[in-house]
Amino acid sequence: MKMFVMFLIITHVSQHVSAVDMNEGDQFVLLRCEFPTMELDFPTVMWSRFDLSPSTVHQHQQEGDELKNQNQLYSSRTSMKPDALKTGDLSLNLTQLQLSDSGTYTCSVRTVRGERRVADVQLQVKERFPSWAKALLVLLIVAVGLLVHFRHYFMSVQHVEGNSGMESVQLPCETTVRLPEDVRVEWNDIQYNNVHVYQNGSDKPEEQHQDFKGRTEMKRDLLKTGDLSLTLKYPTDWDRRTFTCTVYSREGNILIKKLVKLQVKDCQVEVKEGVESVQLPFRTTGDLPEDTTVWWECEEPKPEVTTHLYLNGSDRPGEQHQFYRDRTEMKENLLKTGDLSLTLKCPTVRDTGTYVCYVISQNIWRMKTLMLNVKKRPQDKDETVDIRNRSSFTDPTPLMADQSV
Ligand SMILES: *[C@@H]1O[C@H](CO)[C@@H](O)[C@H](O)[C@H]1NC(C)=O
Ligand SMILES: *[C@@H]1O[C@H](CO)[C@@H](O)[C@H](O)[C@H]1NC(C)=O
Ligand SMILES: *[C@@H]1O[C@H](CO)[C@@H](O)[C@H](O)[C@H]1NC(C)=O
Ligand SMILES: *[C@@H]1O[C@H](CO)[C@@H](O)[C@H](O)[C@H]1NC(C)=O
Repeated sequence: MKMFVMFLIITHVSQHVSAVDMNEGDQFVLLRCEFPTMELDFPTVMWSRFDLSPSTVHQHQQEGDELKNQNQLYSSRTSMKPDALKTGDLSLNLTQLQLSDSGTYTCSVRTVRGERRVADVQLQVKERFPSWAKALLVLLIVAVGLLVHFRHYFMSVQHVEGNSGMESVQLPCETTVRLPEDVRVEWNDIQYNNVHVYQNGSDKPEEQHQDFKGRTEMKRDLLKTGDLSLTLKYPTDWDRRTFTCTVYSREGNILIKKLVKLQVKDCQVEVKEGVESVQLPFRTTGDLPEDTTVWWECEEPKPEVTTHLYLNGSDRPGEQHQFYRDRTEMKENLLKTGDLSLTLKCPTVRDTGTYVCYVISQNIWRMKTLMLNVKKRPQDKDETVDIRNRSSFTDPTPLMADQSV
């Protein structure tokens, strides 16, 4: 009887409504509910969402949690204090919040004599930061970082086209920025070889890579005009590279950086078999050092066969492959004039291939590749056609015989 009276007394505790805002993914939320259950006989605490079926979110009684009717959505995500019924703190701890947790949670206390709705808690779970936005943000940060770090590589590349018959090609690099007197201008290739260095008002040929020795020139008054373009003399396929033009301040900071990609067309020579001779052209700068070796080699289809060798001031027929014996000739004064062209006499189809000429001295290294194509003589062509005609005539005969039957 006493229990019954107590229950009636407490039923006039006003029902409490509260609202809670959370974000998706939050660790937990405590949905508040208090009621002096210590005075009751065998109370059961029910947390429910009446918009769900089953509506039970959590159930707790003297023996402990009773979760057999729990809605699957809340499986393993709810808890109440073990001593809740003794203290009257019936708050529900809901973990790993999801968007679908939004709703009204009703806390009620039930005894054998009746049920009391104690509190309604409106829970709103908001989308934190949509995941695609998160991914986008990460991407953006990475991209900005990369851009800052590799900013020189994202610069536009200027394309220059040349061919290996040209006397020179210009690699453009111009600036409108007023440059101080003490800058260092470096032309490099993509492998960081120094192509040309200008510092302190003059060129520094001693810093130049051997591939470019004696072949480069920059403009006069380049700091005044801002025209830092490089003239590269007698370009060959060996110069197919990406070049960088960089201006450093005295402290070593990069003031300007530009990229220039040089494309040099293949050198192709075509003749018909039967001509007296063919010339494999190669011109380069004159006044080459006396120790210069000029070495013509066939690389394809024959594997690295010496076509002609000029060493220490004279031809070396002894080093030449017998296939080319007495058939090659170089110019007089070739080191003086820089005309390293090779004359090949009586070319035949068997001379067709890829030829490379190397120019090597103490500190010079140059090379050029040529494609020689020697075509068959027209009479030879006719012969092959005749053979084909004859064989194609023998075939239709039985067919025609069949038709006549
Ligand atoms: C709710 O439960 C989580 C997980 O068990 C726990 O880390 C957190 O401390 C609890 N919150 C409260 C207020 O008891
Ligand atoms: C540049 O020239 C000045 C004087 O002409 C000299 O003192 C200085 O060492 C030079 N710097 C370099 C890097 O050559
Ligand atoms: C090059 O030729 C000079 C004289 O013509 C000779 O003294 C020298 O030994 C030669 N060097 C080589 C590597 O053959
Ligand atoms: C041989 O064939 C060519 C075409 O392939 C043709 O033009 C020519 O007339 C033929 N010659 C004879 C003798 O049939």
